[in-house]
Amino acid sequence: MLSLENFNKRKFPLRVLATSALALSMVAGFSIAHADDSPLPKLANKKPLRVGFAQTESNNPWRLAETKSFKDVAAKCGWQMVMTDANSSASKQVADIQSMIAQHVDLIVFPPREEKPLAPIVLQAKKAGIPVILVDRDVDQSVAKAGKDYITFIGSDFINQGQRAADWLVKSTGGKAKIIELEGSTGASAANDRKKGFDDVIAKNPGMQIIASQSGDFARDKGRQVMETLLQAHPDVTAVYAHNDEMALGAIAAIKAAGKQPGKDITLVTIDGTKGGMDAIAAGELGASVQSSPFFGPLACDVAQKFAKGETVPPWVKVSDRFYDKSNVKESMQYGY
Ligand code: AHR
Repeated sequence: MLSLENFNKRKFPLRVLATSALALSMVAGFSIAHADDSPLPKLANKKPLRVGFAQTESNNPWRLAETKSFKDVAAKCGWQMVMTDANSSASKQVADIQSMIAQHVDLIVFPPREEKPLAPIVLQAKKAGIPVILVDRDVDQSVAKAGKDYITFIGSDFINQGQRAADWLVKSTGGKAKIIELEGSTGASAANDRKKGFDDVIAKNPGMQIIASQSGDFARDKGRQVMETLLQAHPDVTAVYAHNDEMALGAIAAIKAAGKQPGKDITLVTIDGTKGGMDAIAAGELGASVQSSPFFGPLACDVAQKFAKGETVPPWVKVSDRFYDKSNVKESMQYGY
């Protein structure tokens, strides 16, 4: 039997495991793809186009807005959508995309839940002759490269979002804070880069200290639970940086349950610009939110049409983001989702 114990004792050699994985993927109709120098697969300039959209999960307003933007643009763009939902599982997202490849869709568009596990499937799609556009999050560039293995990455600069959140926090706390950081889904480019951008700025400010940093998986209830535990371990916390609005809203609930006032005892800053986040800013409970736009449908349509016509598409189509705090939140409500 294959157990962790005999695996560790090498009674089951790695070579056998690798061969079994390869055999399994062959049986399933897929061989392991490696990066190569072949050109990107072509995209037919036709309508309708069968387009696969593989969503990561649908448990927050950001994801719902992203999915809706594809549903809304489909008819206008001449796309027949094949849509899946990975229910927060990177391996289900891989399987969803494998099924799209097996169905020979014309184009695959997806936000990779995590950077590393979703990179090889991009190569498999290329090998199968199906072009890919990544939206929102990117994959590990040492495995699959934008412009070479897939058409482009359309998305925000997550490092910059983290920097902007940190700059606001430094300013609004006078450069003195004990910070709890609620990280997004482990292994997601959005979580990795938002952490890097924020932590690098904080490290340059000696009065600012990150006292705890833990994943809340970009989910409201997980954010609340993590914050509840961290509040007990660190009652001296004065600020929270959450990688998205949903976790910040969960943290606000935990702060209130602990008898503290969000926005007064603890300053919160976050990323997304959802309606819920903007309402919390207007109520004085959330300090600021850096916008992260989920509206990729029209951008992906535009990129696909250009690519199909043979026009040049840059490897990164950068999305620029607004910023909301008490100074502008009321007149910006129209941008919430
Ligand atoms: O990748 C973008 C992030 O993913 C959004 O900030 C978050 O709300 C979503 O789940």
